[in-house]
Amino acid sequence: MLISGRGRNLQALIDACADGRIDGHIGVVVSSRADALGLARAQAAGIDTAVLSPRDHADRAAYDAALGALLDRYAPNIVALAGFMRILTPAFVGRYRGRMLNIHPSLLPRHPGLDTHRRALLAGDTEHGATVHFVTEQLDGGPRIIQGKLTVRPEDTPDSLAERVMHDIELKIYPQAVAWLARDELRMIDDRVWFRGRWL
Ligand code: GRF
Repeated sequence: MLISGRGRNLQALIDACADGRIDGHIGVVVSSRADALGLARAQAAGIDTAVLSPRDHADRAAYDAALGALLDRYAPNIVALAGFMRILTPAFVGRYRGRMLNIHPSLLPRHPGLDTHRRALLAGDTEHGATVHFVTEQLDGGPRIIQGKLTVRPEDTPDSLAERVMHDIELKIYPQAVAWLARDELRMIDDRVWFRGRWL
């Protein structure tokens, strides 16, 4: 699993592995930042951790090569990104094509990139939410697997939306999507999503 921050999604996946909703375990948590709070969650759960700082690598290709070499030691079936603040090279994405997921805090294709809650409010969106998608070369643009929606309230702020999107949506839909992929109920084929015998 790849993180850069608080690791609330990581915790949801740890919990789902522990109680059997996900048929699998997390082999390693890699953070791009040494101060990511999520590292402590992984350590508390007895999961190997590693920090790969961009500062220690000459360029994106070198960073992604080091990341790939590290992950290969664990031979992961699934690579899950949550708040991993790095744009990945096509070579890295290609290596884990169909096995790499990301969660994004907006109703993609609306609001790819950063600051999604503020942008949803500024755009006057009446609905907002989060999306789990397969990772492709296109930033936040890979085939979508599952979305959760909420209704934006007049009194909402970026912070209140972030809180509700995280707790009401992200922490539910990410374990669900990972569970499907782990059970092979979900596949990406030619940039389309196949789920339980039909195309999404
Ligand atoms: C989440 O909102 C995720 O959707 C976004 O970054 C945030 C990560 O939070 N990509 P956490 O590290 O899971 O607490």
